[in-house]
Amino acid sequence: MKIIAPQGLLIAALIYLLAVSSCSDNKGTNQNEPNQYNILPMPNKLVAENGQFVLPKVLVISADSSLKNETQILRSFILTQAPEQVVEVQYQRSNKSHIQLVFSDSVAHQEGYQLLVSAEGIKVKAATAAGIFYGINSLSQLLSQKDQVTSIPFVRIFDAPRFEYRGMHLDVGRHYFPPSFIKKYIDGIAMHKMNRFHWHLTEDQGWRIEIKKYPKLTSIGSVRKETILGHAGASNPSFDGKEYKGFYTQEEIKEIVGYAQMRHVTIIPEIEMPGHAQAALAAYPELGCTGGPYEVSTKWGIEKEVFCTTETTFEFLENVLKEVMDLFPSQYIHIGGDECPKDRWKLCKKCQSRIRSEGLSDEHELQSYFIKRIETFLNKNGKKLIGWDEILEGGLAPDATVMSWRGVQGGVKAAQLGHDAIMTPQSHCYFDHYQSDDPSEPLAIGGFLPLQKVYAFEPIPKELNQQESKRILGAQGNVWTEYMQSEKHVEYMVYPRIAALAEVVWSNPEHRNYQDFSQRLHAQFKRYELLEIHAANHFYDINKVHQLDTLLQQFKVQLHSWSSDTIRYTTDGSPVNQQSTLYQQPIEVTQTMKIQAQAYTNNLEVGRLFTDEFVIHQGIGADISLAHQPVKKYTFHGKNTLLNGRLGGKEFADGEWLGFIEKPLVAEVDLKTSNNLQMVNIRFYDDPDSWIFLPEKLTVMASENGADYTEVFTTSNVLNNNMIPLNLEARYIKIIGNPISSIPVGHPGVGKPGWLFVDEIEIK
Ligand code: ACM
Ligand code: ZN
Repeated sequence: MKIIAPQGLLIAALIYLLAVSSCSDNKGTNQNEPNQYNILPMPNKLVAENGQFVLPKVLVISADSSLKNETQILRSFILTQAPEQVVEVQYQRSNKSHIQLVFSDSVAHQEGYQLLVSAEGIKVKAATAAGIFYGINSLSQLLSQKDQVTSIPFVRIFDAPRFEYRGMHLDVGRHYFPPSFIKKYIDGIAMHKMNRFHWHLTEDQGWRIEIKKYPKLTSIGSVRKETILGHAGASNPSFDGKEYKGFYTQEEIKEIVGYAQMRHVTIIPEIEMPGHAQAALAAYPELGCTGGPYEVSTKWGIEKEVFCTTETTFEFLENVLKEVMDLFPSQYIHIGGDECPKDRWKLCKKCQSRIRSEGLSDEHELQSYFIKRIETFLNKNGKKLIGWDEILEGGLAPDATVMSWRGVQGGVKAAQLGHDAIMTPQSHCYFDHYQSDDPSEPLAIGGFLPLQKVYAFEPIPKELNQQESKRILGAQGNVWTEYMQSEKHVEYMVYPRIAALAEVVWSNPEHRNYQDFSQRLHAQFKRYELLEIHAANHFYDINKVHQLDTLLQQFKVQLHSWSSDTIRYTTDGSPVNQQSTLYQQPIEVTQTMKIQAQAYTNNLEVGRLFTDEFVIHQGIGADISLAHQPVKKYTFHGKNTLLNGRLGGKEFADGEWLGFIEKPLVAEVDLKTSNNLQMVNIRFYDDPDSWIFLPEKLTVMASENGADYTEVFTTSNVLNNNMIPLNLEARYIKIIGNPISSIPVGHPGVGKPGWLFVDEIEIK
């Protein structure tokens, strides 16, 4: 995927933070509290009971012999938590066992379970092995409460998932990850009671699955000669000069598929077509419209070279898919279908002749023809097709399932047409997006998706009626790896956002409560540690809520930490340490200041240093009018953002910047009384790779009556920060900024109008 223009906004109103008191983990009684069980995702029903089941020295598990796999997983889990424990397994019903795994028709849902812990022992009941597996999963969470487990709290849990499709995706085309990591990734999926692994196996930058009939797919297609450095949109990219390669043999794939099956995870392979196919074309140039030569792509983005629509291509793809279907028992095969430029097809005689002979009206219908043909082939072989939402264009294949990524609209449309859909909108499900605005965040593709926003995702859009809603099979987190070279980096992007998504797809939405989730997340972090998963720890950072009093022109700033006992802070720029002011009540900000704060638990630093800046000036709370409205997507709180004492950060979509295109910024500020004004400071954003430029021209005018303006300053040498001296009496200030009308040569978007992003108009 590619972000060329500003994407996504943060919904940052963390109002619920205000209501939060300190952690309530430790109640100091024997009473078992519902949230003390730390089951994640939250079960449908959990009845807390008093007492503990003390593990005997020799623990006996009994289970149906068809549950060997599940039993062994439980046994090895117990042994990692309590290495001294002796665990015996009996594959027959026995009243002497301490843990019984039993099939029971009383559990209606195919993936549901009951987990009952009492003085009599532990019972996991379910209708299927999958249900037993999820019951064992919850039991494992009870076992992982302490470092050294000796007992399990009494409880009755009745649980089942909300959605049948609970997925995670991984792109191994941009970067390859070895089988050992793929297995660890599958463990991570299963530990969150998710059940689909969407394995994105082919890309422009690398073909990663061995196909016996076409050996060049891997001998040539899995190798790229080098890799772009830095952001893909850069006008003058540089490359690392290092060969990059990797692929999975069919033997490795079979082993991984088996590994996933044992964890009740279905792997859905994705073979991209007709676009994102340049690595395949590099191996077999006759499959492209121009005949090549092609090289495995070395940069990120969308390539124009796509499969030509000849019989040769279809024969090739069918042969590839035959081997894929033999490897993957999944009913679904994902065939991509996204981001397929039509440039080559428009100029290709063979594709144009296909359009005529099939009676198609254009290249979109040609794409639809392509997908329908592949669907017919998959259906004939007992498989079902999934494609990205572009497969709606030009007509949807009759039985296709749509994966909605450019928002939820593709999923809505598919459901309304009577098709199944899976929700993976960029706005809430793209784990390649930034998860914080910390400047030290590693390079990401863009966007902003903090944990809270994943947690707030609702897969069923309001516009669907009950019948249509059933078509939404579930949701999935997508992990595109352009900017993730290492396993640790993938984990950093995935955890703990996967935990938030797991609760979205598993739990009853009535139980969704971020505060409660946060408390249970502590236990989940301990589990991550145990599995050596390198989770991102933004969760431990200080959170803030501020309120602006526009009359008094001051802020009240509340700090909160989910995980610490103490917060200390400074407001004079000095570093925070153990002697700094203890945070006890909201900080009153009556002058421009930078707040720095640090959370501590038992005198040890927890999470990152918090910094935030507040700019107090005469314009705060003044009236402002704009002659032309900013583009809606980049308006957030509207025009008052320019006079709210807050500065836009390094992300242009952070909600503080207002974005204009084609029309100029014309802002008129009414201070309501005449004032002696010393200066005005106007800030602009500059990011040519995202088509955002400093204005061509900046003009400042002043007026006493709002009608007769005097120009006080004008420049065509605009900076990020424009500190303009005034030294005059005025009630009105007018700012005019002209966005560049045509992006200059040497930048992406050349010739198109440029964006202007402006924030705070600081008046002193
Ligand atoms: C996608 O992100 N191109 C599906
Ligand atoms: Zn062609």
